[in-house]
Amino acid sequence: MTHSQQNKTYGISMIGIGACVPESVVTNDDLTKLVDTSDEWVRTRTGIRQRQVVSGDETVADLAIAAAKDALASAGISGEEIELIIVGTSTPDTIYPAVSCQVQHAIGAKNAAGFDMALACSGFVYGTVTAQQFLKNGMYKKALVIGADIHSRFVDWYDRNTCVLFADGAGAAVLVAEEGAEDNFLASDLHIDGSKGGELTLYNETENCPLVAPRSSASPHVSMNGREMFKFAVGVVPKSIKATLERAGIELEDVDHLVLHQANIRIMQAMSEKLNIPPEKMITNLEHIGNTSAASIPIALNEAVLKGEVKPGELLVFCGFGAGVAWGTTILRWTCVDHRTEKMATFQKSLANAHNS
Ligand code: UT7
Repeated sequence: MTHSQQNKTYGISMIGIGACVPESVVTNDDLTKLVDTSDEWVRTRTGIRQRQVVSGDETVADLAIAAAKDALASAGISGEEIELIIVGTSTPDTIYPAVSCQVQHAIGAKNAAGFDMALACSGFVYGTVTAQQFLKNGMYKKALVIGADIHSRFVDWYDRNTCVLFADGAGAAVLVAEEGAEDNFLASDLHIDGSKGGELTLYNETENCPLVAPRSSASPHVSMNGREMFKFAVGVVPKSIKATLERAGIELEDVDHLVLHQANIRIMQAMSEKLNIPPEKMITNLEHIGNTSAASIPIALNEAVLKGEVKPGELLVFCGFGAGVAWGTTILRWTCVDHRTEKMATFQKSLANAHNS
């Protein structure tokens, strides 16, 4: 960064959104072949009816790249213009290279820097707030933030406590800095609390050097204390949202939509009640998508944008929470003029057809 850049101020906006979910669908009824559960239990306790999972050699990078391309189309810019790529993922195909490097190559972002963040379900919000800092100080002008996870390769499909929840997908957003412009990111709030780390864990299976004492065995699958995670979410999310609103000088009534991590419909209902927010302001899509971890917020937002539910000028609150434990909120004015006009028209037409049939 040069000295002249330091004296300038930059307004940050989100100008593109995109998503990708794999095609293979697993319904609640399908899961009854693996575990002692029922469609009724899963729907009423979680709000989930089905989830999509990767199959064959599909990778988290494949999903991240497809979501990135969709977000670039939404923003109407080329991959070459991207200078920073942040990927929130806790389920990379490879420990290295980072998923951000694979995305960089695939979209032709020749001059980009990038890195991955392993903050589970908070990864997209952490990535968005981190990108804002690089853009605000003038170091970069255009950033791509991606949330991508494939938990289907990490859950124990014979553990009904977790296998009914998680799903695979990726969501991406383009953020830009404009010199002297109004800042459309109004305030943020980030936290971690490692004392509760044991409530939701995913160990890797690697072994020590054979010349030293072996590791004691740890489950290589997702392990979760659901009740504790539920309590944690319901406790911290309203506080974080209120603190962020206060920092931004905004009243809750002025918020048009909340896009929360899609963990459980009952968590979102509890938030609506605690914050006294009309349920229709809460964007939800976990019924057909499940819990896609770092990807859930951008996937839900993308769907709401395609539906025409979220419109330019509206105030949005994003809040992610999950393993770590980690949580975070950011408030923004939605200013994206989506360039995917054909895709939006097709999406809305198919919704209308489904509604009429
Ligand atoms: O994305 C990261 C953040 N994730 C979260 O924040 C998740 C938060 N937690 C939750 O969403 C919920 O706690 C769960 C959906 C995981 C579980 O729902 P719950 O209402 O808290 O159920 P529970 O764990 O208290 O279990 C109630 C009963 C138990 O049976 P008993 O002991 O009462 O006989 C469970 O064994 O439900 C049983 N159960 C099931 N039954 C049928 C647990 N999972 C299932 C299942 N099908 N899949």
